[in-house]
Amino acid sequence: MSLAKTDPQLLRYGVWTRLLHWLVAISFVLLVLSGLPFFHPFFWSLTGLFGGPTMTRILHPWIGLFMSLLFVLMAIRFFKESLFKRHDVQWLKQIDDVLANRDEKLPPVGKNNAGQKLVYWVMLLCVPLLLISGVLMWQPLVGEEVPITLRRLASMGHAYLAFLAIITLIIHIYSGIWVKGSFQAMVRGRVSKAWARHHHDLWYEEEMEKERKHREISRRHESRKGESP
Ligand code: HEM
Repeated sequence: MSLAKTDPQLLRYGVWTRLLHWLVAISFVLLVLSGLPFFHPFFWSLTGLFGGPTMTRILHPWIGLFMSLLFVLMAIRFFKESLFKRHDVQWLKQIDDVLANRDEKLPPVGKNNAGQKLVYWVMLLCVPLLLISGVLMWQPLVGEEVPITLRRLASMGHAYLAFLAIITLIIHIYSGIWVKGSFQAMVRGRVSKAWARHHHDLWYEEEMEKERKHREISRRHESRKGESP
């Protein structure tokens, strides 16, 4: 009997995807903690976490570079499943049903819902622009070669983009808490079929179709083995 026949769970995120995601998540949080003290003096005490103001100033751009590189790999992995489809537009139009938990009224949902896809695209916009604006200000490595007006523009853009990315991250974490079972998906990688059918019915159907095909192939294989002398 094949494992797929009885397995009550589905693989949602493989081990490399989870590792990438959590490395991006941790470095993103470190970036926020090391960036906020330079945004407003209210956050100055956070520099203590990184060994003082000078160390924080040195570390912030390196963490940013590290996070951006990992983010590229993660963005490639999530690209296909983040493309918008027709039913996603309908999902967004019914955002009041989403917020009121009227799941039965919502259109079918693929591996990711339109909200998750929006998070992906906003982050895909923010991270490269944060990197570019950050590099333009990076002193003494790059910054001194850059005209002062461009550096000032970069500094303003960096702050606005960081604000947008932080708000997006807060929404992302909140939806992870709101939709029970999401954290388990990103920690263990597997979700129950019931969870998949409830929250991502189109994805569930696709996975079931794969399972059916897989079972059919192994059944044919078994019967051919039985026929051979
Ligand atoms: C502490 C920070 C973070 C937490 C707690 C967190 C939590 C989660 C959880 C629970 C999921 C699984 C959702 C599901 O399958 O239903 C997820 C997925 C994902 N996360 Fe995060 N995440 C964090 C940071 C980030 C950051 C910084 C990025 C990008 C810059 C990111 C991008 C994604 C993407 C693209 C997915 C897949 C699609 C989606 O579910 O939105 N995450 N995250």
